[in-house]
Amino acid sequence: MTTHMIFKRLSLVSLWMIFLLQGCTHEAVTPVIPDDMEDNTVGTPCDPGVIYFERDILPILRSNCAKSGCHDAESHQEDIILDNFQNVINSKVVKPFDLNDSELYEVITETDPDKIMPEPPNQSLSVNQIALIAQWIEQGAKALSCDDPEGPCSTDNISYSGFVAPLLSSNCIGCHSGGTPSGNIVLNSHSAVQTVALNGRLLGAITWAAGYQQMPKGSGMLTACNIDKIKAWINNGAPNN
Ligand code: HEC
Repeated sequence: MTTHMIFKRLSLVSLWMIFLLQGCTHEAVTPVIPDDMEDNTVGTPCDPGVIYFERDILPILRSNCAKSGCHDAESHQEDIILDNFQNVINSKVVKPFDLNDSELYEVITETDPDKIMPEPPNQSLSVNQIALIAQWIEQGAKALSCDDPEGPCSTDNISYSGFVAPLLSSNCIGCHSGGTPSGNIVLNSHSAVQTVALNGRLLGAITWAAGYQQMPKGSGMLTACNIDKIKAWINNGAPNN
């Protein structure tokens, strides 16, 4: 082989590598996260452009993935446990900043019904939930947290579509929808939610009242403000507003 040929091959190889490298990068807009937000400093104000694991991601994973028989600590299907930050990282299903190499993202966006997670007949994640998880990975899959100053909790004009449904969607419907809803309680349609709202079971469960199961199961209680808002909506007759 002449020097010329070797040189030609080498330059072809490097062209390929540039092509491949470009193929792997994607055009995600990753906000720059200042260093001082990397630890769980109490008193860090919440930045609207940043995804916070405990606040935004954990409720989705707990109610859709870390369920009994799936990816809670006891069941750990495929050795994957998705019930807290450390277990998510140890399960190696996310590669920080790299969506394409993150198995978690791959399975929730899978189109093959045999591979998609959560498995049918469980409800798939919503477009919004998938977008949150994608952004979290693109921002480095960190355990950031923040504190919003505790302003007054406004319980005026609480609507089903604007507040109640999204809250239930993040925290509850992974278990309370699909073919075999937990406790036979369905929380992804207004009429079903209205039934448990008006018979007292919804409030009993989220306020951890005596005689009720404590919901969301396996997680902390909803915030006092969120509970007050649901209460206000129920007191209004749990309308489909
Ligand atoms: C990880 C799964 C899971 C999540 C998440 C979850 N639940 Fe449940 N829920 C259950 C199971 C399972 C039961 C049946 C009772 C039992 O066996 O513990 C139940 C029962 C209930 C009941 C009946 C309680 C009773 O004592 O009558 C209500 C109401 C309820 N859930 C509401 C909710 C609400 C509201 C949320 C979200 C804020 C939620 N659940 C989140 C699994 C879950």
